[in-house]
This record gives sequence, structure tokens and C-alpha cells, in this order.
Amino acid sequence: MKIKSIELKVAAYNKNQYPDDGLTQIAVIGRSNVGKSSFINTIVNRKNFARVSQKPGKTQGINFYLVNNSFYLVDLPGYGYAEVSKEMKKQWSINIETYLNVSEYLKGAIMLVDIRHKPTDDDVLMMNYLKHRNLNYVVVATKSDKLNRQEIQRSLNVISETLEVDKGKIVPFSSLKKTGVDNIYTYLDSILED
Ligand code: GTP
Ligand code: MG
Repeated sequence: MKIKSIELKVAAYNKNQYPDDGLTQIAVIGRSNVGKSSFINTIVNRKNFARVSQKPGKTQGINFYLVNNSFYLVDLPGYGYAEVSKEMKKQWSINIETYLNVSEYLKGAIMLVDIRHKPTDDDVLMMNYLKHRNLNYVVVATKSDKLNRQEIQRSLNVISETLEVDKGKIVPFSSLKKTGVDNIYTYLDSILED
């Protein structure tokens, strides 16, 4: 995989706005502030393409990024942000669920968790949903630059046990140091070849 081009095709606020061109979609999912936008910027090698937020909860719509004119990376709003109203939380989870339920071109999911923290109940729910939907997925453990080697191994064990995911399916990742990028390209290739 080589990423040659990327453009924001649509920021969707309801399902009528989802692209309907038959191109494969791969979702980027995770808690608010876990590093989704940074992850996207890193794998597409652009500094400020997806907006990185100082304040969590920035990405509210569903951003469909068209990559190489051949597939979409779908940036979902982050869930689990504590500081917003109940109403808003509800709206967000509805947005996420609606997309996951109706998207017929969704072929894979990149599930992000912060390597420093045990995955939350929300993360476990999301993971179970992905398994239930039989989606091909990979787990990305973000911000790995914040831990040393030994701590990383320990965290991978915790993540693996909590999400009940094989350790081999978890990629330590750092946007800062660009760790893990090649593993993601390999994953994208495997989805797109399918
Ligand atoms: P929302 O859109 O609000 O849900 O957040 P997000 O998941 O898109 O996270 P975002 O990429 O905006 O990053 C959140 C914060 O984490 C920012 O301050 C980033 O600079 C920081 N961050 C993201 N990735 C990394 C990483 O790999 N290493 C370090 N050290 N910090 C990171
Ligand atoms: Mg974001």
C-alpha cells in the first residue's frame, strides 16, 4: 500500500450523505481523544489533514476520506467523552451505530485504544459489536511512544485479555514516532484484496 492521494469526500451528519459509489470503506473507531485523527494523518503522511483536537470530542460528523480514489477511510466520532451533555452523547452513539448498522460497503475496522490504559467498557462493547458483525478488524494501541518496551508488552497483554483479541492482532502505534505504519498498510492491503 502506498497512499498517493487523500481527500475529504463528505462529512456526513445523516445516512443519506454516506457515499454510495460502491467503494470499500474501512472505519477508524475509538474513544474520544484516543488519537484517531492523528492516526489518519500519520498513515496518509500529512501533517494537518484530519483535525487534531486540543479539546476532545472535536470530530462530530462522520468523515469519509477517499484514499487513492479507491477506498474510504471513515473517521467516526469518538465515543465515551465524559464532558458533554447526555443529549450529545446519545446523538453520537446513534451516529456511530447507524453507520455501523447500515453501511453495506464497510469491510474492515481499525479499532484504536490508548496503550496506557485498560480498555473501557465502551471499548469492550464496540469490540463485541465488531466481532458480532463478523467484521475484519485490527486493534491499534496508540501513543506507544509514551511507554518503554517492557511497559508496552505488559499493556498489550492487558488489551488482549480485556478485549479478548489475539495479541497478534494488536499493533503498537505512535503518531509521534511513526511506529506501526507498515503494519497498517499491510492490513489495508489485506482488506482491499479480499
Ligand atoms: P476526537 O476527534 O476528539 O475524538 O480525538 P481523536 O481520537 O481524533 O484524537 P486526536 O488525534 O485529536 O489526538 C488527541 C490528543 O492526543 C492530541 O493532543 C494529540 O497530539 C495526542 N496524540 C495522538 N496520537 C499521539 C501519539 O501517537 N503520541 C503522543 N504522544 N500523543 C498523541
Ligand atoms: Mg478526531
